[in-house]
Amino acid sequence: MAVDNCLTHVAIIMDGNGRWARSHGLKRIDGHKAAEKAIHDAVQYCGEMGVEYLTLYAFSTENWKRPKAEVLFIMTLLKSFIKRNIDDLDGNRVRIRATGRLDDLPRGPLKELRNAMIRTGSNEGLNLILALSYGGRAEITDAMRKIALDIKAGRMQTSDITEDTITSCMYHPDVPDPDIIIRTSGEQRLSNFLLWESAYSELYFTDVLWPDFRRVDLEEAFKDYRSRRRRFGDLDSDR
Ligand code: IPE
Ligand code: IPE
Ligand code: MG
Repeated sequence: MAVDNCLTHVAIIMDGNGRWARSHGLKRIDGHKAAEKAIHDAVQYCGEMGVEYLTLYAFSTENWKRPKAEVLFIMTLLKSFIKRNIDDLDGNRVRIRATGRLDDLPRGPLKELRNAMIRTGSNEGLNLILALSYGGRAEITDAMRKIALDIKAGRMQTSDITEDTITSCMYHPDVPDPDIIIRTSGEQRLSNFLLWESAYSELYFTDVLWPDFRRVDLEEAFKDYRSRRRRFGDLDSDR
């Protein structure tokens, strides 16, 4: 029986930039630079397909452990990426958002990001959510702190804690859980991405390295997703 799941939120772990660079005899930073084309394709195709939310894992809480020069390069690239693409994105009604511990970001890139979020804040096209200094455990930890403060201040009782209240304390409670999480480069793990939100996400892994990931690869992922049976713990509806 044909299944045609809806595709509201797509999340991508954009991995393999370093290996792509090495395979081309280039430096790791060249791999990060080459990632821009893949981002462009993903934004365009998701927009065309009517996807409402596209979350891109760009920098994790653990990525700060990398050599200073690489981290600095990625942060500088973030700023220049926004500068280069803001007119196009805004023109296409893309709303730029971000998730993660944004206060960890250096001042320059953070300012660029905040300006882009303000400028595109009322756009009604694709929500492009950049996960920056993002960690699933950090997000859950921050939610727990918020709840603890509410209880301490008497605004909430322990018995009020439910899955819904925890969800409401996540960084973006208005964003639905991802329908599909795609990871490139052959690694088969979440690496601390959307741990709370991925409870029932479909996972899709491909060997393609992120800088090589194109529209056709996304088409393939969507096709695979559409053929899957999502049960959410229930029995099939045609039981
Ligand atoms: C993903 O590519 C980009 C970031 C994590 C910032 P990598 O830099 O992890 O590339 P590989 O995994 O080393 O090939
Ligand atoms: C996950 O990739 C983070 C991003 C893509 C931003 P990593 O390359 O950091 O993950 P591990 O270390 O291989 O698990
Ligand atoms: Mg990696």
